[in-house]
Amino acid sequence: MRILSGIQPSGALHIGNYFGMMRPAIELQSRGETIYFIADYHALTSLEKPDELRQNCLDIAYAFIACGLDPAKTVIFRQSEVPAHLELMWLLSCVTPMGLLERSHSYKDKTARGLAASHSLFSYPVLMAADILLYQTDIVPVGKDQKQHLEITRDIAQKFNERYGPIFKIPEAEIREAVAVVPGVDGQKMSKSYNNTLELFGNPKVFEKQVMSIKTDSTPVEAPKPTQNSVLLDLYKLAASEKEYNVLKEKMEKGGIGYGDIKKELHAKLKDYFAPFREKYEELKKKPGEVEEVLQYGARRAHAMAEPTLEAARKAVGLS
Ligand code: ADP
Ligand code: TRP
Repeated sequence: MRILSGIQPSGALHIGNYFGMMRPAIELQSRGETIYFIADYHALTSLEKPDELRQNCLDIAYAFIACGLDPAKTVIFRQSEVPAHLELMWLLSCVTPMGLLERSHSYKDKTARGLAASHSLFSYPVLMAADILLYQTDIVPVGKDQKQHLEITRDIAQKFNERYGPIFKIPEAEIREAVAVVPGVDGQKMSKSYNNTLELFGNPKVFEKQVMSIKTDSTPVEAPKPTQNSVLLDLYKLAASEKEYNVLKEKMEKGGIGYGDIKKELHAKLKDYFAPFREKYEELKKKPGEVEEVLQYGARRAHAMAEPTLEAARKAVGLS
């Protein structure tokens, strides 16, 4: 079974990305053949700083490997280093009705948030379809926000297959409903666009400060603390064992512990949880050449996997 997903290198990774996307993706390595790529072409639709784009790509590779991605198992590469993605995109564009893209929520949302209405933003779902269809993917694990992109991908694949014959496998989305939305320090969904993140591999002092700044209510120290929708407890749960979680929950229900102390416990737990990853991350950063090699190796493997499908598609439309 082929499992494929992409992540945009559009900013510093946060623990919402880790628990919501990276951890499940890494766990999937035992379920099938995994292909994870860094969607740098997609990031170009919103990121205008070349140095940042370059650095973000490397940082994502360091982070995934540090957190347990095994480059011997998973094919990991930069999207822009496998030209077949763009070539297939054109072939798919020729069967994609305008109406399909005009209905895209993400285009409407992004332009409503102030991004310039560029052609790249509009055609974004066609490139994503190419990413997926090129590898005869069975399953695409993504967050809820990507659901419509997967529906568009399936539509495009069906259109192509109807016109030219059965070239593409029709992929299934695997929407991570079970993974709760990780809350940010202000209680909203953690997101780099809301400025409320706990950075995965940022400065440890800043991390601690951010944990200590998590918004809480004014329940006095001695009183029981609400445990429903508690950002502190919800974050603690992600990194703690069930037993540890229950201990903290009972302490909160009983009262007699202040929010400052709860935050300290949360910070200690998160720090411990990420300590081995951080150590590996720092080591990898000292050897950018090695990580670059992993990405080059991944790109070669991806190229070899993509080529037969691209050839079949080219032939089907009458190009070769
Ligand atoms: P951001 O919202 O910070 O811009 P992205 O949209 O780049 O994050 O998300 C990258 C991946 O991380 C996606 O798969 C998304 O579903 C996941 N993700 C991002 N934020 C969260 C969150 N707060 N909780 C759970 N998953 C998240
Ligand atoms: N659009 C996805 C996101 O913003 C990233 C992405 C690009 C992707 N190509 C993909 C995800 C192919 C899954 C499959 O999160």
